[in-house]
Amino acid sequence: MVIKSAEYLISSPDWEKCPVPNLPEYAFIGRSNVGKSSLINILANNEKLAKTSGTPGKTQLINHFVINKAWYLVDLPGYGFAKRSMSQRRQWQQMIENYLRKRPNLVSVFVLIDSRHSPQQIDIDFITDLGTWNIPFSLVFTKADKSTQAEVSKNVKAFLNKMRETWQFLPPNFVTSTVKKSGRDAILNYIDELNAQ
Ligand code: GTP
Ligand code: MG
Repeated sequence: MVIKSAEYLISSPDWEKCPVPNLPEYAFIGRSNVGKSSLINILANNEKLAKTSGTPGKTQLINHFVINKAWYLVDLPGYGFAKRSMSQRRQWQQMIENYLRKRPNLVSVFVLIDSRHSPQQIDIDFITDLGTWNIPFSLVFTKADKSTQAEVSKNVKAFLNKMRETWQFLPPNFVTSTVKKSGRDAILNYIDELNAQ
C-alpha cells in the first residue's frame, strides 16, 4: 500500500468525543513505551506524526490520524505505567474499555508486545479482555533490533504457546523494528486486506 497522505485529526478524552465513525479504524495498544506511537509514524511514513518519548506515559488521549483520507490509525495510551495512581489506572481502564467496545468503525486492534521479553502476564490479561469483548486483534512484536533474531523468535514462540493454553485460534502476528523499518509492509498489506473486506 502506498501512503499518499497522513494527517493528525484530533485527540479525544473519551470515545464519545472521537470523530464521526465514517472510516474504518485500526487502533494500537500495549504497554507504555512498547513503541505504539513510533510504529504509527513508521507506517505513516512521517516521524513527526505521533508524539513519541523515551519516558513511558507519553500518549494520554485517543489520537486519530487519517491515512489516505480513507482510514484511521488510532494511537492509544499504554497500560502498565508504574507511575500512575490507582484512580488514574481505573480511568485508563474505563476509557480504553469504552473505546474498544463502543467504537462502531473499529475494524481491528494491534496489540504491541516487547519482543525482548518472555510472555508477560499484563499482556496476556489484556488479550483475555479483548477475547471477552469479542474484539478482533493481531499481535505486533516490537523492538526486534534490540535482541538477536534467535531471541526474538524464542519470545514470539513462547508468547504464542502461552496463548495456545486458552485460545483455539491464534491471531496474525508481526515482528517490527522502527530502527530497521521492518514489518511495515506486512502490516500495511494486512490493513489493505481488511479495508477491502
Ligand atoms: P506511551 O505513549 O508512553 O504508551 O509509549 P509508546 O508505546 O507510544 O512508545 P513510543 O513510540 O513513544 O516509544 C518509546 C521508546 O521506544 C522511544 O524512545 C522509541 O524511540 C523507542 N522505540 C520504539 N520502537 C522501537 C524499535 O523498534 N526499536 C528501538 N530500538 N526503539 C524503539
Ligand atoms: Mg505513545
